[in-house]
Amino acid sequence: MSTAPRRLIVAIDGPAGAGKSTLARALARALGYTYVDSGAMYRVVGLAARARGLAATDAEALAALIDGLDFALRPEPAGQRVFLSGRDVTEELRTPAVGEWASRVAALPAVRTRLVERQRRLGEAGGVVMDGRDIGTVVFPEADCKFFVTASAAERARRRAREIGAPEAELGAIQRDIEARDRRDSERALAPLRAAADAVTIDTTGSTAEEVLEQVLARVAERAKA
Ligand code: DC
Repeated sequence: MSTAPRRLIVAIDGPAGAGKSTLARALARALGYTYVDSGAMYRVVGLAARARGLAATDAEALAALIDGLDFALRPEPAGQRVFLSGRDVTEELRTPAVGEWASRVAALPAVRTRLVERQRRLGEAGGVVMDGRDIGTVVFPEADCKFFVTASAAERARRRAREIGAPEAELGAIQRDIEARDRRDSERALAPLRAAADAVTIDTTGSTAEEVLEQVLARVAERAKA
């Protein structure tokens, strides 16, 4: 009797711009799993909070906002799309201003507990690749496979500049922004950015996306057999 392969929970954490989402998306496609970008949830809250003129530190108002927020992450073959009150806000979420807001609201326990609960619901059945900052440490401490993806700040700044078409002259400022966001994400009291003790760390500096995917797929295949 043949048994269906186990559908795993794969957690991918790491700092901004390290290549997490490229890897997570490709991995989900290769495995036939669902890709969930948990950062998009923090970005949706940031976007909605900004639109309503809330303060990024007002935990009570943000909690009430989230409790009434109608948003959905929809996995599609080309990647995840995000809807807020039925409107597709996927592109809007990628702006640096929204990223900044996301990072600020993500420091609040009232925000994190609510979003972590939704992330667990999305992933608990398995067959999911979820990326973020605390997936392997807090959201799914029992995840079958955990990866911590890093790259040097200079490399991440170069990738970000290429992505947004910024000139060479802006590289220094982009790198400083990245380092500031890393600091805020790593130093916050609750669920700071750090590798889980049982995560495999992958430094993508100087590697192609294909090389990274191959390395990770080999590891997942090993775990699926276990
Ligand atoms: O991955 P991203 O850049 O889209 O995430 C936006 C912000 O959300 C980031 O600054 C940190 C926060 N975040 C978090 O605290 N926990 C997660 N699991 C995902 C994102």
